[in-house]
Amino acid sequence: MRSSLFFLAALCLESIVALPQTGIIASTTAAQHTQVNNKASIYQDHAEAALERLQQWYNHDTGLWTSYSPSWWQSANALTTLIDMVQIGSPKAKKIADTVIPHTFQAAGAFNVREGHRLKRAAAVDNTKEEKNPYSNGYYDDMGWWAMTWIKAYDVTGNKTYLATAEALFADMTTGWGTNCSAEGMWWDKQHTHVDPIADTLFIEVAAWLANRVQADKKSRYADWAVRAWDGFRRSPMYVSGEHYVTAGISVQTCRLGKNPHGYTYSNGALVSGLVALSIATGNRDYLQEAHKVAHTIMKIMSKDGVLREPNINQAHPGQAAPQFKGVFMRGLMRLHAADPRPEYREFAQRCADSIWDKNRQGAAELGPDWNGPFHGPANASPHSSAMDGLAAAWRMTE
Ligand SMILES: *[C@@H]1O[C@H](CO)[C@@H](O)[C@H](O)[C@H]1NC(C)=O
Ligand SMILES: *[C@@H]1O[C@H](CO)[C@@H](O)[C@H](O)[C@H]1NC(C)=O
Repeated sequence: MRSSLFFLAALCLESIVALPQTGIIASTTAAQHTQVNNKASIYQDHAEAALERLQQWYNHDTGLWTSYSPSWWQSANALTTLIDMVQIGSPKAKKIADTVIPHTFQAAGAFNVREGHRLKRAAAVDNTKEEKNPYSNGYYDDMGWWAMTWIKAYDVTGNKTYLATAEALFADMTTGWGTNCSAEGMWWDKQHTHVDPIADTLFIEVAAWLANRVQADKKSRYADWAVRAWDGFRRSPMYVSGEHYVTAGISVQTCRLGKNPHGYTYSNGALVSGLVALSIATGNRDYLQEAHKVAHTIMKIMSKDGVLREPNINQAHPGQAAPQFKGVFMRGLMRLHAADPRPEYREFAQRCADSIWDKNRQGAAELGPDWNGPFHGPANASPHSSAMDGLAAAWRMTE
């Protein structure tokens, strides 16, 4: 009963809906309820104030949010954050999304086409698929970010154009399957220079999310891809299966990890979200249990004072990619909590959100890359939207 309820309820809105808990008797008093509601509305206020600031970085011409040029994959993440807020129930986010989703779809796609889908495309690669899809480029992870964004846009609008775009992106992603190091894994780029776990974990996530949305006749194809990709990935050196977390990319020369390999928060977040969706797609709770294990490992090994922290990176000078990472983990945690809530996830999200707001803010609502603080610039849409994921996750989990 518990598991059939789980899968039925989860199928509808895996990313947001809390599942019915059996055997838990509501014992909160009215006063406690009010406290919880107040706390939730504080997180909502913070997230909405930050959203207002985020939109000042929105470039109407390119449909992208200004961060590190060309702000491509980061913008997919910023749009995902906005859509999450719509799903959590922000009227402000909904109003913005009503115009920003269709505008971004058109303008950012046109930007990429104008730029010739230029990012790291191998000359030898057949680009007919790319010409058909304004969101294709030479990086398999970039396509994964946009595929996730358009899946979510489909979730909130019901518009099949977005789902079709995500499916086309996934079709292009399958051209990265099979590397020099493994027949069951992904290249990171079409030029075949690197193997990196973010490409594998996003491939799993996109496949599993698509499986839960496409028509019945296509479902097993996507679910099979996700199962196969997870099977290949968990056996690769990039997954520390004994400790349940995603570590670094491997060398294509040696097919091994480098010295002192360390992972990032975002590939773990994409994996957690992918495993939750895979568990829903297949009805197999083992994937969900693995997602719980990954979440617990990351909360332990990638945090400081109980607040999420990117390992081995100077948080004040984190380079161009890392500021975006932590939010991706918070989204994964939020989805896991929605599917199978645990108090420790809520406490973790609240600690992150409190620290982001109290220690990592400049002015009214400008958020930086170091969630433990103090605030560091440069302020732009990347660290800012990532920190917003932390606020939104706390809001969602506090309700
Ligand atoms: C679906 O989305 C596309 C892309 O934004 C848009 O052109 C189209 O008008 C939308 N369809 C409907 C029925 O809203
Ligand atoms: C991968 O394998 C192909 C075909 O064997 C080879 O041409 C290429 O140089 C290899 N790439 C690397 C980075 O080792």
